[in-house]
Amino acid sequence: MSLKSDEQKAHSAEYFGEYRDYWWNRDFLDLMAQRLRLGHVRNVLDVGCGIGHWGQLLASVLDKDSLITGVDLESDWITKARERAKSIGLGERCRYELGDVTKLKFEENQFDLVTCQTVLIHMKEPMVALREMLRVLRPEGVLFIAEPNNFASHTVMSSLTEGWSVDEVIERLKFNLTVERGKQALGLGFNSVGDLIPGYLNELGAVEIDVFISDKATPFFPPYASQEQQVNIRQAREWASRGFIGWSRQELREYFLAGGGEEKEFDHYFDICVQDSKEMISAIEKQTYHSAGGALTYLIAARKRGSKAT
Ligand SMILES: C[S@@+](CC[C@H](N)C(=O)[O-])C[C@H]1O[C@@H](n2cnc3c(N)ncnc32)[C@H](O)[C@@H]1O
Repeated sequence: MSLKSDEQKAHSAEYFGEYRDYWWNRDFLDLMAQRLRLGHVRNVLDVGCGIGHWGQLLASVLDKDSLITGVDLESDWITKARERAKSIGLGERCRYELGDVTKLKFEENQFDLVTCQTVLIHMKEPMVALREMLRVLRPEGVLFIAEPNNFASHTVMSSLTEGWSVDEVIERLKFNLTVERGKQALGLGFNSVGDLIPGYLNELGAVEIDVFISDKATPFFPPYASQEQQVNIRQAREWASRGFIGWSRQELREYFLAGGGEEKEFDHYFDICVQDSKEMISAIEKQTYHSAGGALTYLIAARKRGSKAT
């Protein structure tokens, strides 16, 4: 299902800003490529590629002869991914086409590496997608999956939240968990599905399952001098200016109600969240806001059982 927001933007349009270029430490991905012996990889499939951030980043730690095929449901993203690849000199190594991860149009056993980032969190049935990803992977090929536990980020403290009462913290957690559960109940995916992927892969018969956690945090501290902090502040300011709290108001409301929240409570919760985001921006202006900015993003690797394995 393609999730459109109020303004009918293409899937995940709110999340393809410049800040997405700062999601990983490149040397961590180099280390992963070494540990998983990815030097031999030539033929890569990036499912739910969006505008290409993940596949193109991976290209930078893979052999120069590797080719990356990206598939996505959204034709706008296919066009943009092609342009983006070209603009960073990867036009020859990256090709993009429309495709559905739950019904891939590839023969089985084709790819050395099949990967995705923040795609399974949007799947009604992540097992269906994983089964397809394994099907097109060659025996002994590598699945390489970056999916988060997004709920964890709501527990990260900051100079603003450290003084909140237990009730104030619980109130926000309750709202965010209700929204997360509602999104899942509507068949739009579980935003913390990263916690479950290793078990799913085990059930599907994948082998050599390894689980890592990205070593990237997104800290804020005055004077917010780094380019990364500037980019993240720009994004946070833009979202706060129009009351965008991870989702649009309409999406939040739908998810909240589907998660068991009561209609009469929604405005209260929404107003709190809008107010929190405004306070964060105001504290940044006063140069008082700081947080270590932790996140829980798993990098899960597994191999498809070899054809000779019993
Ligand atoms: C959060 S974005 C991630 C994009 C990219 N992987 C990245 O990390 O930059 C999720 C992407 O999955 C795509 N998507 C959602 N359901 C899909 C499906 N069934 N098959 C292929 N792509 C899908 C969306 O269009 C969107 O581009």
